[in-house]
Amino acid sequence: MINFSPDPAHLFDRISKSVHAIWSKTAFRPDIAIILGTGLGNLTKNVQTEAAIPYGRIPYFPHSTVQSHAGRLVFGVLSGRRVVVMDGRFHYYEGYSLEHVTFPVRVLRKLGAKVLLVSNAAGGLNQQYKRGDLVLISDHINFMGVNPLIGPHDDRLGVRFPDMSEPYSKRLISLAEKAAAENKIQIRKGVYMGVSGPNLETAAEYRLMHSLGADLVGMSTVPEVIVGVQAGFEILGISVVTDLCDPHHLKPVNIEEIIQVANQAGPTLDRLVEAVVAKIPDVHERKAV
Ligand code: HPA
Repeated sequence: MINFSPDPAHLFDRISKSVHAIWSKTAFRPDIAIILGTGLGNLTKNVQTEAAIPYGRIPYFPHSTVQSHAGRLVFGVLSGRRVVVMDGRFHYYEGYSLEHVTFPVRVLRKLGAKVLLVSNAAGGLNQQYKRGDLVLISDHINFMGVNPLIGPHDDRLGVRFPDMSEPYSKRLISLAEKAAAENKIQIRKGVYMGVSGPNLETAAEYRLMHSLGADLVGMSTVPEVIVGVQAGFEILGISVVTDLCDPHHLKPVNIEEIIQVANQAGPTLDRLVEAVVAKIPDVHERKAV
């Protein structure tokens, strides 16, 4: 386990130092933060880039170890909006603490971004889904057995007991539905269950997850969204269904196949993200609860 000190004052200071290091490298101020999931890194090609900062050059940022995760912050204009793209994310299964995994989310918020778009590759538990489907996340279930907010509390990071009645903004979901319809992109909606990984699930586990109300399962997103809510982001989550989790007809999958399906769906996801970003007219602070 890679651990930071549990002292919350230190966390606040580390965030500030990261932010100031970034500000010393670029004057660009983003409104929208975007986190790209496994195999979905191509969106950055469409960003009119003002600055790209490798994670290794940002103090206290973790470094990406997983294949297909590049590891840099890309600042620039996408669909006329000021964005910062996190090209490469961190997973609990890599051995990072959840404080590490979610540290960049806190930095993105402190950089001034108010909207957070999160994408991921996920297994499809809902039997209506097909491989390559795009699903707007309507809600989530934290099944990771841990929580990124556990530990001493610091009010400067947000409230102690964040409200979770609407972690995924209904306003952004409806903008995304409009954007999808206008661009003839088929989308679905579903509940995402976050697990620690790194193994994929057994047939019995998929059966259990579906019976608990999950449509999707994946190894990211949930910690980022929990911290994102605490930090005051308005959030939209989009999953790409990379494998079908039918407990009765479970076929072996491997990570290469999952990345391949994510890559194939990537251009459509990019179109959707660009259309959604164009529709976010007025990013507003999520009301503190
Ligand atoms: N399970 C967990 N995480 C995943 C899966 C899955 O089936 N597919 C893509 N990410």
